[in-house]
Amino acid sequence: MEKDSLNYIANRKNAPLDKKGFDEWADSYDLDVKISDEDKEYPFEAYSDVVSGVIRLVKAQTGTRILDCGIGTAKLAKVLYNDGYSITGIDFSTSMLAKCQESMPLAKLILHDFSRGRLPADLDCYDAILFTYSIHHFDFDLQFSLIRGLGKHLSQDGIIVIGDVMTETLTDMQGIANKYDELWDDAETYPITEIYQENLPEFEVRYEGKSESSGIIILSK
Ligand SMILES: C[S@@+](CC[C@H](N)C(=O)[O-])C[C@H]1O[C@@H](n2cnc3c(N)ncnc32)[C@H](O)[C@@H]1O
Repeated sequence: MEKDSLNYIANRKNAPLDKKGFDEWADSYDLDVKISDEDKEYPFEAYSDVVSGVIRLVKAQTGTRILDCGIGTAKLAKVLYNDGYSITGIDFSTSMLAKCQESMPLAKLILHDFSRGRLPADLDCYDAILFTYSIHHFDFDLQFSLIRGLGKHLSQDGIIVIGDVMTETLTDMQGIANKYDELWDDAETYPITEIYQENLPEFEVRYEGKSESSGIIILSK
């Protein structure tokens, strides 16, 4: 029964999800991710290690103002919220934001579509800006432009943390794309550390691998 839920992941191949697709996915999203994580399968292989790694990085810095971009059901953000962090979440799916509202009634939630490269007008200053499994919905040009724009909203010692399907090198990315062949989603652009380092020289870019196909990139000024 539980396994049926994974069909959502298998069926989305090469068909980028729009706002409606994410609205429809909101109810089964947490279960889909859990199954993919437990099966150690792309795309959510090591999801829980990625999320706990991001939480550890957030807690290692001293600030409490968090911006979660593509916040989804708030699986990650609600852990920080329950520990007293101030959460602002952005998403273009009203159903995903409704889930956030239920579990984090005091969070600031912003309905916004990043796909045109714009940022919401009412952003503040944040100590950690997070993208988990969300930045891959944009091509590299848009990823870098969003990161540069969001960098202006970072506190002095703030960090941008990206947890996702990712690799350190382009060669490694080509390797996992070949390995997962049938399941591989060409519509998504997964972060590659060496490409981030080349294109974002104004940031220090560090990589923490979590599995063959997933990890965390940490950007600081
Ligand atoms: C795969 S989910 C990840 C959710 C969550 N961050 C996590 O780690 O579980 C991707 C999220 O990004 C949001 N998203 C996708 N494209 C977006 C866009 N163009 N603008 C804003 N949010 C977007 C989706 O609605 C969804 O909630």
